[in-house]
Amino acid sequence: MANSEPMDALLGHLRRHGRQPAGALPDALGISRATLARAVAAAPGVVRLGRTRATQYALARDIRGASRWPLYRLDPQAQVIPLGDLLALDRGEFAFVTAQPSDSLLHPPFEHGIFPDLPWFLDDLRPGGFLGRTFAHRMGEHLQLPVDLKLWDAAHVVTALLHGGSAQSGDLILGDAALARALHERDSPSDLVPLADRSTRYPQMALDVLQGEQPGSSPGGEQAKFTATLERDAGRRAVIVKFSVAEDSAAARRWADLLRCEALAGRVLDLHGLAAAQATLVETPGQVFLESRRFDRSADVLGRHGFVSLLAIATTFHGEASMPWWRLAGLLHADGWLDTESAQRLCRLYWFGALIANSDMHLGNAGLLLTDTLPLQLAPAYDMLPMWLRPGSQGQVTIRDYAVPIPSAGQINAWQWAATAALDFWEQAQGLDVTPEVRRFATTMQSGIGRILERFPRTPARLPS
Ligand SMILES: Nc1ncnc2c1ncn2[C@@H]1O[C@H](COP(=O)(O)OP(=O)(O)O)[C@@H](O)[C@H]1O
Ligand SMILES: [Mg+2]
Repeated sequence: MANSEPMDALLGHLRRHGRQPAGALPDALGISRATLARAVAAAPGVVRLGRTRATQYALARDIRGASRWPLYRLDPQAQVIPLGDLLALDRGEFAFVTAQPSDSLLHPPFEHGIFPDLPWFLDDLRPGGFLGRTFAHRMGEHLQLPVDLKLWDAAHVVTALLHGGSAQSGDLILGDAALARALHERDSPSDLVPLADRSTRYPQMALDVLQGEQPGSSPGGEQAKFTATLERDAGRRAVIVKFSVAEDSAAARRWADLLRCEALAGRVLDLHGLAAAQATLVETPGQVFLESRRFDRSADVLGRHGFVSLLAIATTFHGEASMPWWRLAGLLHADGWLDTESAQRLCRLYWFGALIANSDMHLGNAGLLLTDTLPLQLAPAYDMLPMWLRPGSQGQVTIRDYAVPIPSAGQINAWQWAATAALDFWEQAQGLDVTPEVRRFATTMQSGIGRILERFPRTPARLPS
């Protein structure tokens, strides 16, 4: 055999059959193990994965001139922790090669670090929603990415992450350039706002973001928003700000009402012992800003905490992109992601949302704090408000009746807890500076929930055994 023949045979075999266990290759190619080792060393783009008997060989895939990037964590103290390397493989696969075992990142079936697509723990970093679209518009041409996010494949996402905005969710950072940018941003945030200047700066930042000026790629969510780093004396904290538009319209007033309701929902949840993102209202004449303190950033040092949405977990591990949170809570508990108490909290949060007419309880609107060891903790509640009342796409602000949900099987306790908290919410909502229609809706909801709560007595009767 000529010298290059084993190498060509190896490349051809991997191209035809995909990633292969090392042990099977000598027989398949009709060569000795020593010849295989030489062929692997000589073959361009062949990567070795795993060790000893679990060793596999695969073809690397080139994405903009590279196929391997370091993955970092910026921890709560803002220390850089190298986690391992992400490798792009042939056939759309990715490998995460790490020396550190991680119960969560390598949760089965990915214990060998091989992923059919971009690893799930990077899902929440991909540009999405309102700010993602802004990013795609601004950076798309420069990075040669499709302007329409729906057309993005994994290679586009990797490219975006490598150039990622420092506002990204969670604590993971892909590649050296993104790390350098994140560290620079931490030292001198481009969205720095002195605490005392919020009411002058926020309206301008809102205007900028509506005109597509904010370069950050994350966080997601469809509503217009911007990020800010608030500074007072030596202290800093990162926030996400949603706002009503500065216009005299029924729709703008309704959004203002909804932001007030979101701030209230957080306070009520906290009072009832369920952590919610700390939210503050900043009001200017004609505009309301809801500033939500980022739970994936630490105060002052601006370190980070890991975050993963329920959506990323459910699509990856349960093959479903939508189901009620209480049902996912059961699955996450069974798989070891959540302990009993956190699973119960998630159920309570779901029913609270359902009872405050949050008609937008998709799996991207709740998440977990992503750490290496299981079980994970529930992230504080966010985006919790009566979305049922949102203005329609044409700006119409009618209020339709909302059917108060009754508990699903097995959910009576969580529902009762939530009904008590929701009664508080609707009662306090009547005291907010909101429009009379919303106040009336609050009254109707309060009595509706009260009536159903009477049907579900505190201690559910036991079924005869
Ligand atoms: N306080 C917060 N801390 C960290 N991340 C947050 C916080 N609030 C929202 N997020 C992230 O930002 C995304 C968009 O925010 P969200 O309030 O859901 O906006 P929208 O109303 O547009 O859906 C969320 O899906 C979540 O990932
Ligand atoms: Mg949301």
